[in-house]
Amino acid sequence: MRSYKVHVPVMKQEVIEGLAVQPGGRYIDCTAGSGGHAGAILKYSSPGGQLLGIDADPSAADTARRRLAGYGSAVVIENDNFVNLEKVCAKYDFMPVHGILLDLGLSSMQLTDNGRGFSFQYAAPLDMRFNPEQKITAEDIVNRYSEADLARIIRDYGEEPAGNRIARAIVNERPLSTTIELVKIVEQALGFKRGRIHPATRTFQALRIAVNNELEHLESTLRQAVNLLGYEGRLVVITYHSLEDRIVKQFMQHEARDCVCPPEAMVCECHHTASLKLINRKVITPAVEEISRNPRSRSAKLRIAERTASRLEWDGIAKRKYNAEENSGSSCQRSSMLKEACGLF
Ligand SMILES: C[S@@+](CC[C@H](N)C(=O)[O-])C[C@H]1O[C@@H](n2cnc3c(N)ncnc32)[C@H](O)[C@@H]1O
Repeated sequence: MRSYKVHVPVMKQEVIEGLAVQPGGRYIDCTAGSGGHAGAILKYSSPGGQLLGIDADPSAADTARRRLAGYGSAVVIENDNFVNLEKVCAKYDFMPVHGILLDLGLSSMQLTDNGRGFSFQYAAPLDMRFNPEQKITAEDIVNRYSEADLARIIRDYGEEPAGNRIARAIVNERPLSTTIELVKIVEQALGFKRGRIHPATRTFQALRIAVNNELEHLESTLRQAVNLLGYEGRLVVITYHSLEDRIVKQFMQHEARDCVCPPEAMVCECHHTASLKLINRKVITPAVEEISRNPRSRSAKLRIAERTASRLEWDGIAKRKYNAEENSGSSCQRSSMLKEACGLF
């Protein structure tokens, strides 16, 4: 397998357009990685743009910092989990913002780093943590969890119909400590058939999701992101598997509805009000040329939503001044309502 020095950002142009990046705007990249999308956001938001980047992986955060150093004080990269998004923004007094990006999953460097255990193609310790300071590893899960819990993880997070069989095989063979041992167990349990995907693909995905608590963190972060967006601010999310995409799709659809009462309700009791507007009803996927240039992009799905009303504004909390016009020296390119909102902040 090829090892990657930098990650090629997926659907870069679509991200810039989805975020409606404007000079003087303020953006958050929750998954800074090696800074590919972040660099493009900084380029299109200059002059005056600002970016707060977050990555759970300290080595990714270092790479992003190095690559974006030329933007000076316009950029801050924080090594943290995006589930702490609101705390990180509070630390830097970075809210409200014009756009938030989540480009989920793994970078090419992480996948091909043979110390991390993310790939079934490399011999490595069963680790799979984004942040090496986190306590729980994939090794802990395969060796300590009950057969029933392992089966549930592999079935639910890997969408693997043979989860029970794989879990039983793991329990019979443990303790195990390397990716190669796990791959062999899965191959034996399923029979190594030449198919579209390697038989261990789903089990590795499941363990990675469980180790990093990915789905729970995603749901919490989407909610925080809505609270941080200013009026007409954009939320752009790229997912790489159907579990993530379902969460993002359902979240955006739910937040785009004024009432979420069950259909049989005669009168609205939920009093839910829409906080987002869907920008793309149909999911955006990479063009054929991008997939042939960068095959890792093939499973990517991009969704965009726009903040319909700033809760900060409605609640009368928005005391801070943030004016994109003053920052950029150019006029705010969005609607007059956003100008008003920019002025308010
Ligand atoms: C697909 S890569 C992003 C690549 C980036 N957009 C670029 O252009 O270089 C995903 C990144 O998200 C980070 N990540 C995954 N889950 C995270 C989480 N819960 N909190 C913070 N970072 C996370 C990973 O460490 C990885 O660096």
